[in-house]
Amino acid sequence: MASSASVHGMWSSRLMFILAATGSAVGLGNIWRFPYVAGENGGGAFVLVYLLCIALIGIPIMSSEVLLGRAGRQSPINTMFGLAERSGVSTNWQLLGWLGAASGFVILSFYGVIAGWAMHYVVLGASGEFGGLTGAGAAEMFGNFTGNAWLVLLWHAVFMLLTTFIVARGVGEGLERTVKYLMPALFVLLVALIGYAVTTGGMGDALAFLFAFNFDKLTGGGVLIAMGQAFFTLSLGMGAIMAYGSYMPKDASVIGTVTTIALLDTGVALMSGLVIFPLVFANGLEPTSGPGLMFITLPLAFGQIDGGLVFGTIFFVLVTFAAITSSISLVEPAVAWLVEHRKVSRRAAAATVGGLAWLLGLGSALSFNVLSDFRLPGGLDFFSTMDYLSNNIMLPLGGMLIAVFAGWIVKREIPQEELGLSPGGYAVWQFLVRFVAPLGVAVVFVMVFV
Ligand code: TRP
Repeated sequence: MASSASVHGMWSSRLMFILAATGSAVGLGNIWRFPYVAGENGGGAFVLVYLLCIALIGIPIMSSEVLLGRAGRQSPINTMFGLAERSGVSTNWQLLGWLGAASGFVILSFYGVIAGWAMHYVVLGASGEFGGLTGAGAAEMFGNFTGNAWLVLLWHAVFMLLTTFIVARGVGEGLERTVKYLMPALFVLLVALIGYAVTTGGMGDALAFLFAFNFDKLTGGGVLIAMGQAFFTLSLGMGAIMAYGSYMPKDASVIGTVTTIALLDTGVALMSGLVIFPLVFANGLEPTSGPGLMFITLPLAFGQIDGGLVFGTIFFVLVTFAAITSSISLVEPAVAWLVEHRKVSRRAAAATVGGLAWLLGLGSALSFNVLSDFRLPGGLDFFSTMDYLSNNIMLPLGGMLIAVFAGWIVKREIPQEELGLSPGGYAVWQFLVRFVAPLGVAVVFVMVFV
């Protein structure tokens, strides 16, 4: 039954919910993944589709996750179970919670590896390795590092341990404190870096690349990737935001907070693009460089600017923290479920989930070295397969079903009460959640897979 508080703890205020959910949303998806997938898919038109997906699919689904979580006040699996029961429909809807928990593992298996890279770059930055780099030198540095399996494995393990420790400490203590100061600091540093990017002379080309809507360059597969990126960057479709919503106080507005989070997240992604692409064009690098794009371009910038040693180091520290505030939300749904269902301690639950995710992540860590020639069915390496599966299939599928559940299945009183909208506002919300969001995902799926 619904209760007014979660056994796992509660956010201390509406602001804390916004910070935590923004912490979840803002991460490697914005700084590392957005620029490189936009680069690989031709820029402008891809960016437009991504923005449309944020507005028309992302925001409605995010509001659905938050309201369902807050109405259920349990882990996503048990929230889905409980709300299905209350609505008199099949409790098989809990399978959606299971799909989400599985997506969390799949995502973390590559997320932890990239976060480990960022940690290694803190050390490279602090030891002055960025000084005087050329484009080719930066690419070589990246290749040498990712080719070193033991080093990559070491940082991956360190990151997974950190994530596990923070989650073990619980909602208030671990999560709140981390986001409060680090998110604003990241924002400030990105603004400063845009300032530098303007001086490189590549800003004009970067703006044209990101915002000239050249549809010739966009393929059906690109549309799917743009939609997947929208899900990934907003932490949608797996229950992370549902879990966070279950710790949200009753008096906060769902639509208001969700819109704020989406705007902040989109802002950070676009800012990252405006930092990275001027550097790409000014230094004759390729926008299609793939997952290494951020790790090649930014050291180049820090190697040039005054105080680059300090700023470069701080920047990668902040990226690491942004990754941690996201990774903790990837494990939270599974951890909360273990605590509820198996009555184990939060610590034991965090260790179990963290350990399993670490194990699965070994495949991604080795995809850039030992296993670089290994292909899974589908023709991609382990890392790319995990990325493709989660972002382009599992998250949109999960998100679509969440929208269907919130829009059509759950008892009407629940969204009405949680959203607290005027009748007109509610009608708009219902239209988006019933039709626009699920059909949007369905159309893209049919376009690409049928
Ligand atoms: N949104 C995060 C990022 O952009 C990643 C993330 C955290 C995530 N939790 C999630 C993605 C849940 C999908 C689902 O880095």
